Parts: sequence; structure tokens; C-alpha cells
Amino acid sequence: MIEIRSGSIFKKTHSCGELSLKNKGETIVLQGWVQSRRDLGGLIFIDLRDREGITQIVFNPQVSSDAHKKAQELSREYVVSVKGKVSERSPETKNFKFITQEIKTGEIEILCDELEILNPCISNFPISRLDEEGERFLPGEDMRLKYRYLDLRRKKMFENLKLRHKVVKGIRDFLDQEGFLEVETPMLIRTTPEGARDYLVPSRLHPGKFYALPQSPQLFKQLLMVAGFEKYFQIARCMRDEDLRSDRQPEFTQLDLEMSFITREDIFSVIERLFHYVFKTILNQDLPVPFPRLTYADAMRKYGTDKPDLRFDLQIQDFTDCFYKTGFKIYEDITASKGVIQGIHLKNGAQEFSSRSKLDQLLEQWKLQGIKDMTYLSWTGSREFRSPIGKHLGDGEKEKLGEKLNPGEGDITFILSGDPERTLESLGKLRLELAARLKLVSKEEKKFHFSWVLDFPMFFWNEEEKRLDPAHHPFTSPLPEDIGLLDSNPLQCRANAYDLVLNGCEIASGSIRIHQRPLQEKIFNLIGLSQEEADAKFGFLLKAFEYGAPPHGGIAPGIDRLVMLLAGADSIREVIAFPKNQSAQDLMLGSPVEVPEKQLKELSLKVEISN
Ligand code: AMO
Repeated sequence: MIEIRSGSIFKKTHSCGELSLKNKGETIVLQGWVQSRRDLGGLIFIDLRDREGITQIVFNPQVSSDAHKKAQELSREYVVSVKGKVSERSPETKNFKFITQEIKTGEIEILCDELEILNPCISNFPISRLDEEGERFLPGEDMRLKYRYLDLRRKKMFENLKLRHKVVKGIRDFLDQEGFLEVETPMLIRTTPEGARDYLVPSRLHPGKFYALPQSPQLFKQLLMVAGFEKYFQIARCMRDEDLRSDRQPEFTQLDLEMSFITREDIFSVIERLFHYVFKTILNQDLPVPFPRLTYADAMRKYGTDKPDLRFDLQIQDFTDCFYKTGFKIYEDITASKGVIQGIHLKNGAQEFSSRSKLDQLLEQWKLQGIKDMTYLSWTGSREFRSPIGKHLGDGEKEKLGEKLNPGEGDITFILSGDPERTLESLGKLRLELAARLKLVSKEEKKFHFSWVLDFPMFFWNEEEKRLDPAHHPFTSPLPEDIGLLDSNPLQCRANAYDLVLNGCEIASGSIRIHQRPLQEKIFNLIGLSQEEADAKFGFLLKAFEYGAPPHGGIAPGIDRLVMLLAGADSIREVIAFPKNQSAQDLMLGSPVEVPEKQLKELSLKVEISN
């Protein structure tokens, strides 16, 4: 029988993480959860936990037989209130595990004279242990998400969310000092094209019509610039119906920011100073600023990705010219058909790939992933190597490769060939795999490498739809020196767009915007929107540009990704209180769900599921 009660008769005086020998002799009240109980016959001990820590409570029948009797009922996760005296731990009750620097309360214990059971835990607890060592025994993620309120009782999860709070507070403090104004923008809007699908909300008052949830506040922040706000930010919730990954959620948070009368240098400066402030206040780390910059073209050429992890080097090298007029038919065909032969040279690679079988295993593994044209050179001297393609290569190729790489015994060169884009992309992945195998980066080390990637293309070619797609979004302006290319060769035109990359993760994206109607109309036209469509979808923006819109630009760092990297977590779900799972479901609430017929009727909707 659960005793129904409205609360405790005592008021909590301290947290479970703050008492020490300084409080010896004081009578205090602690309230929290029973983390564990040990019954040593005469004495009962509990570890009482709250969000701040753990304190040992002792129930001694000689101090209070009533409290000792009640303590026999206690079990894991009971919520209790304990009144007692702070006492120095005696040798018999010492629990050495807790006498550490980590748990500051290790030197003391509470001799309980009154115990109230505020609420028992009457269900089988789905997480076997909540302490840090218990991480090894965590149930699968779906179970953790179903019982998220219990998963959040773990210290690690609390610390992650506390870190998130501090990051957001740091951001707000800094931007406030810099004169930015936080403005809330609506959630029920019309579509914002950020490249994902919209979540739609049916309108009851306008049957057959739908609102879209914002993929970002992009258009509103631009309109705030037209309104003359000059410096805006918002900790903004964004919704995107897209395929999920460890760094993507259907609902996520951005620091959305926009400024007027600026160039991209001003955006870089404010973001660098902001991150410097946040890292200093939270981690006491002096982030080196300004952040290094590289162009999109260089990032792709050297690292095979637009978000290179620059904590290690391992650059991609081009060997195509070493194989011109080679006798090796496959490479000859590739060079003749404008393909490329490129690779990554690993100094002392033999340390990891000590045997041929290890190298062959890697090739096999890549074959399974659909990458069949990879090979390697295992160098035995400055002009000599063993290789599956060795017998096809003559002294000429060896000389050219040797000149380019200056190899030594034990070095290994991985080589991929074929279509330029695919080859670079695969080498980008190989680079990451090699870094992981060689342990070139470690999460524990907490090394943060920021870099700007600049000058993205304005458009990518959408082969399916046979049209140009904006590489960032259609409100991004071209680099001034490339504007002419919009007419002659739009695919060569570079955008005034930039990404901020942290440890190989795209942490923020932004651009200098178009602020004049004719250019905006031109871009809409280039991406295949007719004048009528452009007017219907974005007429309000085009109109706004007629009333004296200032030049403006901005950026949006993803808060979840930033906190994930700061926390050393593997997924953004670890830093979101109530995330969706990989299939975009909320397992705790059981959403999404069908809705009752009555509700559909009110919305004038009928559900017909088509395949
Ligand atoms: P973009 O779409 O690149 O730009 O998004 C900016 C940043 O938001 C984060 N992000 C995500 N985080 C978690 N889950 C997702 N599904 C997700 N999608 C994006 C990333 C990304 O870098 N309006 C523009 C910004 C601008 O131009 O100012 C925009 O939203 O960290």
C-alpha cells in the first residue's frame, strides 16, 4: 500500500553533493533517491542521490529505532526525506569507493534520526544501474528513450543537459553584450526551402490548407533586417522531415543570427569571438582565433569532403599524371576518359598494416561497400613496392610516384581511380577510416579544431529533375566577382556562402544574402521557378526588397551538434532531453500516432494510405 501524501514535513536544506567536514555536527535535511542500500545487520546504509551528488546515510537503531525500522523497507529509487546530523565517517562505516575527490561527501555521513518515505519505486526499474560504472550495462537505446525520464536520472545525462544550458546561456550573454536582439519568429508558417521536406499542420479554419513548420527562421530573419533590426538572433527550434543520422534530428535547435550592413568578415569575427567566449567560460580553454579558412574547392581536392576533420593531415594526392601513357590498360583507359588516379600516402603505414592479409582485408571490406577499384603500394624502398598491380607497372611509373611521394620503407600508398567526384568522395571516407584505425584522434583528448570553408558553388546540378538546385538556399548571393557567371556558366558561379566545421562536423552554415529584387528573381528563375511560382511562394520577400532592404547576411550554428562535440558524445540524441529515435519516433509518447476520426473530421481530412 502506498501512503498517499502531499509532500514532506521537512524542507530540504542541502543538496546531496555539498556537505563536507565543514558541516560536522549540523542537523540537516536531505531529500532524494535511494541509489543503493546495504544492510549490515545492525546498521543500514543508503547512498542518497540527487542531481548534485551522493551522500551516505546511516540508520543506526541506537540513534533512531523508528528510522532504522523504516529503512528496512527502502529499496532502489525510493524517494525519501532524511533528517539527521552530519558526522565524520568512522573507520567501520568507511566506504572507500566514495572517498574520492569526485564525491566530495566521501568524508562524511548523515546519522539519520527521522526518515520519511515520500514515494516508493514500485515497478521493476528498466536500467540496471544508474552510476557511471553502470554505463556498460545500459539497455538498448530504444529502451532508454522509452523511459527517458529514468535515463535522464543518470549523472552523465544530467551533465550533458547542464552543459547545453551553459552553452545557450553563454551565447545569450555574449550576443546581448554585442547589441543583438533576440526575437521569436512563428512556428506555423509557409514552407522555407532549406532542402528538406516540410512537416505540415492542417488548418481547421481553412479546410484543405496547411501550415508548414519552419525548417529554419531564414525568411523571418531577413525580413527583420528589412525592418531595420540590424542585429538579430534566436535560439530557434527547426523542423525537417529528412533521413536521420547520428547528427540529425527531425526537431533540432539553431542559434540563428543575422546582421545588416556587414560583410562576411563581420560574421566570421562575431562567431569567432562568440565561440572564444563560450569555450573560455565553459571549458576554460583559449580557442585559437581567427579560425583557419579554406575554400570549398581546396577542401574537396585535399580532403574529399566539404567538412574536413583537420585534427590530422592525411591529404589526398593526385597521381593521374604519373600514369599518362602507362602500359597498364585499366589506368590508361581511366586517364583517357578524364578519370583520375588519386590516393593517400601513409608514412609508416606498415605499423598498422603489418601484413599483406591486413591490407587485403581492407580492400575486401571496401569492395563490400561497393568500392572495387582500390589498390595499394606497400613501399620496400624509395622506388620499390609490393602491390596487387605491381606487375603492370614499370620503372617509369615507379620513378614518377617515388619523386612525388618521397617514400621510405614501410610506407603505404592507397590508390583509388575512376570518376573524379566518386574517387574524391571515397578517398574522403578512406581518410577518416585510416585516421580511426591509426587512432589519430581521440575524443577523450578534447581537441577542438574549427575551420571556415568558403566559396561554395551557387548551384549543384540535379540530374533527376534536370535543373539547378541552390547549394545553400536560394537567398544566398553570388560572390561579387562571379555575378557575370550567372548568365554564362551558373555551375561555375561561386556563392558568398560559408560553413563552419568543427572536428569534421558541419557546425554552422551561412551566407551573405541577396537584398535586391532583380537578383533574387534571377536566382529563382535559374532554379526553375517561373515568375508566377516565385510570386506565389516568395512574393512577400520580393515585395519587401522594394522598400529599401539593407545588405545583410548571417549564419546558423547547430546547438545540438556543438554540445554533442563539447560533451564528447557520439550522437546528438545524447544532448537532447527528449529526442526522437532513428526512425523519427518518440518512443515515450508513442508518436506519431493515428488520430481519432472526430479530430480528422474537424480538420476536414480523410486519411488514405497509399504505398
Ligand atoms: P543549414 O540548413 O545548413 O542552414 O543549417 C544550419 C546548421 O543547423 C544544423 N542542422 C541540424 N542539426 C541537427 N539536425 C538536423 N536535422 C540539422 N539540420 C541542420 C547544422 C547546420 O550547420 N537558414 C540557414 C542558415 C543561414 O543561412 O543563416 C540554415 O538553416 O549544424
